[in-house]
Amino acid sequence: MCNKVVTAITGGAGGFGEAAAIELGKKGTVLLGDFDEVALEKQKARLESLSIDVNTMYLDVRDKVICKEFAEYAASIGDVKHVINIAGVGPHTSYIEDQPVSSPELTFQTNSIGTIYITDSFYEVIAEDGVMINFGSLAGHYIPVDEKIAGVFDSCYEDSFLQKLVGMVSGQGKSELEQSQMSYLLCKAFVIHYTKRNAKRFAANKKSRILTVSPGAHWTRHIWDLPDVSKERTMGAQIESRWGKTVEMGEILSFLCSEKAGFITGVDILVDGGALANVKVKQID
Ligand SMILES: NC(=O)c1ccc[n+]([C@@H]2O[C@H](COP(=O)([O-])OP(=O)(O)OC[C@H]3O[C@@H](n4cnc5c(N)ncnc54)[C@H](O)[C@@H]3O)[C@@H](O)[C@H]2O)c1
Repeated sequence: MCNKVVTAITGGAGGFGEAAAIELGKKGTVLLGDFDEVALEKQKARLESLSIDVNTMYLDVRDKVICKEFAEYAASIGDVKHVINIAGVGPHTSYIEDQPVSSPELTFQTNSIGTIYITDSFYEVIAEDGVMINFGSLAGHYIPVDEKIAGVFDSCYEDSFLQKLVGMVSGQGKSELEQSQMSYLLCKAFVIHYTKRNAKRFAANKKSRILTVSPGAHWTRHIWDLPDVSKERTMGAQIESRWGKTVEMGEILSFLCSEKAGFITGVDILVDGGALANVKVKQID
């Protein structure tokens, strides 16, 4: 008898989590992990009403032990064919009451160190022909990763890594928000870089693929929580004059996890409504 196909999703209680579960739930069972247990249970009920087979587990991606347990739980359900690592904080989305701006420590711990923990944990259990997708961001493309920054990124298994990242964004004269925004750009540049570094070992040892998807502005809490002026600036930078829809992302993730996308590994797929092209390249009128 064939094992169940399992899709493990971090940040599974959120907007992209729902869209990923709806599409990948068509291929088997989904396991949603999130530290918001109330939202997780609501998500489970919503997805079950769509006849999707859903498991849930409390997950904090900043905790190495829990990440490992999450991956082991996924493997106990069936063949872990897809891992969609969405969990992440934004400058205005800390998920902590009374903390409207994410600190650099929180940002790096969740988005950078959390990505290392989840990637390493699922490296151990991913099934042959599996696909792992880490969530980068359009923001990660605004930092040119020169030799110096790459050197810091490549020291990510050293104890001093978090300190080094925080040191890169802190400095006199920078406001709390500016430090948070810089941290977000840097942490997502790291996710894209680190994911590329994994492509060879996933292919050689696991016969699996790994890549990042970098969303531009999509209509989830990450955008709702922005102040109006930032929303206007964000929309103004795009070529498409609308927010991205999570259902569109669900379809993209499903394709990237399919056999048809079997040649796609070690890359970043940018889904940004033309924002980077608009900002970086002089457009023809
Ligand atoms: N929506 C956008 O416009 C946009 C753009 C670029 C990148 N992203 C990325 O997408 C992800 C956010 O997903 P979303 O847009 O669906 O937002 P969302 O707020 O709807 O979902 C994010 C989920 O992550 C969970 N989470 C946060 N920290 C966690 C932790 N430490 N452990 C476990 N779960 C945690 C939250 O509880 C939430 O359910 C982030 O990685 C973000 O950087 C989003």
